[in-house]
Amino acid sequence: MAMIAGNGYQSGFGNEFASEAIPGVLPVGQNSPQRVAHGLYAEQLSGTAFTAPRHVNRRSWLYRIRPAAVHEPFRPLAHASFHNRFDEAPATPNQLRWDPLPLPSVPTDFVDGLVTLAGNGGPAEQGGIGIHLYAANRSMQGRFFYDADGELLIVPQQGRLRLATELGVIEIEPQEIAVIPRGVRFRVDIPDGDVRGYVCENFGALLRLPDLGPIGSNCLANARDFLTPQAAFEDVEGDFELVAKFQGALWSAKIGHSPLDVVGWHGNYAPYKYDLRRFNTIGSISVDHPDPSIFTVLTSASDTPGTANVDFAIFPPRWLVAEHTFRPPWFHRNVASEFMGLITGVYDAKAEGFVPGGASLHNCMSAHGPDAATFEKASRADLSKPDVIGGTMAFMFETRKVIRPTRQALDAPQLQHDYHRCWQDIRKHFAP
Ligand SMILES: [Fe+2]
Repeated sequence: MAMIAGNGYQSGFGNEFASEAIPGVLPVGQNSPQRVAHGLYAEQLSGTAFTAPRHVNRRSWLYRIRPAAVHEPFRPLAHASFHNRFDEAPATPNQLRWDPLPLPSVPTDFVDGLVTLAGNGGPAEQGGIGIHLYAANRSMQGRFFYDADGELLIVPQQGRLRLATELGVIEIEPQEIAVIPRGVRFRVDIPDGDVRGYVCENFGALLRLPDLGPIGSNCLANARDFLTPQAAFEDVEGDFELVAKFQGALWSAKIGHSPLDVVGWHGNYAPYKYDLRRFNTIGSISVDHPDPSIFTVLTSASDTPGTANVDFAIFPPRWLVAEHTFRPPWFHRNVASEFMGLITGVYDAKAEGFVPGGASLHNCMSAHGPDAATFEKASRADLSKPDVIGGTMAFMFETRKVIRPTRQALDAPQLQHDYHRCWQDIRKHFAP
């Protein structure tokens, strides 16, 4: 299904965007005139409460061929591995690490190929996150998906994705991310075959750029590098399926047309993409490795100031120049819980075992840090010269609540039962 118009992107984060695939679609001076141009319907899509303060209020007006309400009733749709059941297994204080999910051997699209690894909170409490992996080998054919439970932060690790959404088309490759807002309908096409990656399903406040404090008005992720699609639409009829995720479960409805039929839209509630390679990394130029919050790309606030529902942080290529310093991340325990993934390259705190597509989980107060080999190397390193960490991109979903692995994650053959051994060779150096 080819989409009409919609080439390119609009730059900025949370702006009042406006885009029309056919000129003259957007009404002037009002949002819902008695008759919309070209016989379209006007529909508002609200991502925050109507009365949310203006600086966090997000909504868009869509001008579409048919209202979104036109579809058959939803019926439950079974899915073996994609859910929000985070209480199936006792949360464990053990350090956990997984090898990558294998690529599917039977035809599998993006929705089929979602596997829930862990999470906390849930859609009913409008807080917490779901952590999912995806592995797929074909485009979604005649089916569309939306998530009523949370916005989806998609982090590809292998293969390009073409995200055809109600508000336009986003194309991403590994080291780029996309965010699909709660409720926005979309289809995932796979232009190059096998794909794999990570999804953070954010049940809490919408992701936004972090405040910069003394850093000033620039750096970290800059707003102009976020890209929102231009309007694009499909005017297609057929026997299609609309899949909804609602309160942790999937539902399926027949729909007789493509729901990607928005010809024009305006507003600040829209999908967006960001190239992680554009992140302007800040770091120490004197002593000591800074807290990982210095690498925050996006944050979802909780009701407690400074304590995020989830932070999305990355560990991109960077120079290490601090002197008198153990340059890799230090040993630490943290009240927050840390889920990490690796998109490409090598992560600087681990010599081996954490591979692209893999994952690790260090929960609240679970001790972790560099492995023995990394400690020995870094504690003897020549600090008179800078080091460069190149060709890598790791990321972290850091949450205030404990991240609870699912039963399938704990039973998975990819779970590394010997992960704790990476610290067992750490020697006693104490010599008073
Ligand atoms: Fe950590």
